[in-house]
Amino acid sequence: MTDAVQAFLASKRTVDDRALNRRVLEQFSTGLARRQRDGSGTAEPVRIVEFGAGVGTMIARLASWGHLPDRVSYRAIDRNEETIAYAREHLPAWLEDAGYEVSRSDDGLLARSGKRRLEVHLEVGDALAVTGEETAADAVVAAAFLDVVDLETALSAAREQLADDGLLYAPITFDGGTTFVPPHPLDERVERLYHRHMDEVRDQPGSSQAGRDLLTALPDAGYDVLAAGGADWIVRPREGAYPHDESTFLESLLETIDGALADYPETELDATSRRQWLETRRDQLERGELVLVAHHLDVLARA
Ligand SMILES: C[S@@+](CC[C@H](N)C(=O)[O-])C[C@H]1O[C@@H](n2cnc3c(N)ncnc32)[C@H](O)[C@@H]1O
Repeated sequence: MTDAVQAFLASKRTVDDRALNRRVLEQFSTGLARRQRDGSGTAEPVRIVEFGAGVGTMIARLASWGHLPDRVSYRAIDRNEETIAYAREHLPAWLEDAGYEVSRSDDGLLARSGKRRLEVHLEVGDALAVTGEETAADAVVAAAFLDVVDLETALSAAREQLADDGLLYAPITFDGGTTFVPPHPLDERVERLYHRHMDEVRDQPGSSQAGRDLLTALPDAGYDVLAAGGADWIVRPREGAYPHDESTFLESLLETIDGALADYPETELDATSRRQWLETRRDQLERGELVLVAHHLDVLARA
């Protein structure tokens, strides 16, 4: 099961690549560059802390898309040990693909490319309980994270890490839409129960409407919202086959939804209907006919 978690997170990379709102990302990137300039004259790196960093795909993406300033210290925290181990194993190759020369360090890696220097510290821990470093962070990244934690606690933990005027970048924050095509008569019920599971049933905190909640929770927590935009996952086959590893992504999502449905009593959804819905979706996936659209918000804020 743990392997499946990391496979899901790795397969999510290309789906997120397409979904990320470029306007919000550009503003984050410009904000990071400005913080490097503000610190010019010193050799101090721009400090980024990532909460719930998963297998490290955001680090690889920001590096390969050229969104990182020349000198960066990147602290990536995830509470799942196997997930951080996966990042430790795969991130060097992803950064090499992005043109960096990489050497491993005790707790992560050092990547260099021309005048660029990126230190990555990979850490297992509860991001919401980490103590700050001596130097406050220029940015906190929380990708696909604020919908699986208590929002107020997370915003306050990010504030603790951030320097005054530091940036909080929260892309792929789920915002209450999971649609499959072709339509199935049970879709409406499945979607309602799946979202209610996030809000009320699962042990883990979080919300199915974290994206829109964020827009009001940020000012309440002392942040200015700088930018917000839609970032929808759209996964569709091309000539009957899914690109990259996106069939793994869809299979994992179907499994997650089915796991949520399994927690309800038969009066909400009987086992036969549940099985029929899943089998139909799996058959469509196998035949390369299944399409997913899932709604998220990307938000950038200043502390
Ligand atoms: C949906 S995944 C997103 C991972 C990554 N940001 C991405 O977009 O691929 C959420 C991640 O948050 C981690 N997580 C959840 N609660 C956490 C916490 N309190 N501290 C650190 N990591 C946490 C999980 O282990 C998981 O890897």
